[in-house]
Amino acid sequence: TPYTNMFRRPPVLLPYAQGVDAKGPFARYALTQKVGTASIVPGLTTKIAGYNGIFPGPTLKVQQGTRTEVRIANKLTVNPLHGREFSTVTHLHGSASLPQYDGYANDQTRPGHCKVYQYPNWQQARTLWYHDHNHRTTAQNVFAGLAAMYHLHDKYEQAQLPQGEFDVPLIVSDMAFKADGSVAFDGEDNAGFMGDVILVNGVPWPKMKVKPRVYRFRVLVASISRSFRFALSTGDAFHVVGTDAGMTPKVNAVTSWRHGAAERYEVLIDFRKYKPGQKIELRNLSNKNNVDFANTGKVMQFEVVADSGPADTYKIPTVLDLGPQPYANLGAIDVNKLTPAMAKARRSMRLERKHGVWTINGETWDDIEKTNFQRVFANPKPYDVEIWDLVNESGGWFHPLHIHLIDAKIIARNTTANRQAHAWEGGGKDVFYLGENETVSVLMQFTTGPGNAGGRYMMHCHNLIHEDDDMMIQFAVGDINA
Ligand code: C2O
Ligand code: CU
Repeated sequence: TPYTNMFRRPPVLLPYAQGVDAKGPFARYALTQKVGTASIVPGLTTKIAGYNGIFPGPTLKVQQGTRTEVRIANKLTVNPLHGREFSTVTHLHGSASLPQYDGYANDQTRPGHCKVYQYPNWQQARTLWYHDHNHRTTAQNVFAGLAAMYHLHDKYEQAQLPQGEFDVPLIVSDMAFKADGSVAFDGEDNAGFMGDVILVNGVPWPKMKVKPRVYRFRVLVASISRSFRFALSTGDAFHVVGTDAGMTPKVNAVTSWRHGAAERYEVLIDFRKYKPGQKIELRNLSNKNNVDFANTGKVMQFEVVADSGPADTYKIPTVLDLGPQPYANLGAIDVNKLTPAMAKARRSMRLERKHGVWTINGETWDDIEKTNFQRVFANPKPYDVEIWDLVNESGGWFHPLHIHLIDAKIIARNTTANRQAHAWEGGGKDVFYLGENETVSVLMQFTTGPGNAGGRYMMHCHNLIHEDDDMMIQFAVGDINA
């Protein structure tokens, strides 16, 4: 039943060690991938496989400029959803990581082993997430529970956007359950997997008590396939302050927005105008090519409660100061300031269904494997700028396409009235919603960052059923085998 379970936030993981060494500040974390139980369906327990045995896994909160080392131990055995060895690969989505720590799909950690991932965190404040990326079983591994958030903070974001209690993660996903409470991962087809239960932070259709204040929500759709179109039952606006790559230079007010798997949007909701006791629903208006069930139009409910503290005088900003571009001295350019004239190349990437598999320019990850991973679709030098036209020619399907490493600016969309990005896409992006027959042109710089000579990075559909079957290719920055 919607709106009966209390909202909760994933716990925050603390580092087991931190300090400053010759290279600057660092923090070390440890995570264990293991089986756990969750009570999702009332009265029943659901077996999950999660980071530290919980779903969603714990949130890491990191300050810009602090390197992190995350030791991930695989204590899993077999994934019952595919019946094979539960090997894992972890990708920190949104991070300009070195290739060897980027969660390359074939760089697997087998049960009983562990891997220490290193993340640079030199980028500007943003909402990232970490999730499994194991070749051919990403969908089952994420569905089992291997997904969590990672917040990168900086002083500019901290000075301008709500923090702490008023900075709220919303990890939205859909699931299906069997009568015994276990997760039901079947019924997937070419559209992917569409569950009938909507979870927020692992709780079905939660209700959240909010004070009459301004809240910032970091919304992540962690679904296998489903996309959402979020709206408030009051028809009131969301103020979009962040996209995948962090703060947007301009704050845009929208009454709804379309949100595909793996995209992140940060929005402010102003609850000051509502009376204590008032209930406001966060709804899903649904998008084309999704499968809807009785309650998939509902997401969560806010209930305004009285606040005894001092009145909230926060002024919703109209513009945001993102601060200086890190490593401008190495050639890095603020994604929002890229111009098409800077591009050295323009390429087209066509998404199609061919010979019973999902392809990009007619090829799949299988084709890449056959070249011993030497085949690359582009080979820019570090800090080169390119335009890629992402073309969905697959018919009645949509694809949230993700390009690793980069932040991009959407410079054209063939389906909007002005052929520009949607109002909510006003900042850097790493996932691009390609609806039916949509073409999106993206402008990006291959910013590797200090100490990263480049190497191979993946690009794939983030509908994980499509990714596994086999809509994934790669490009290389600089030396292919770096
Ligand atoms: Cu969020 Cu390649 O993944
Ligand atoms: Cu797809």
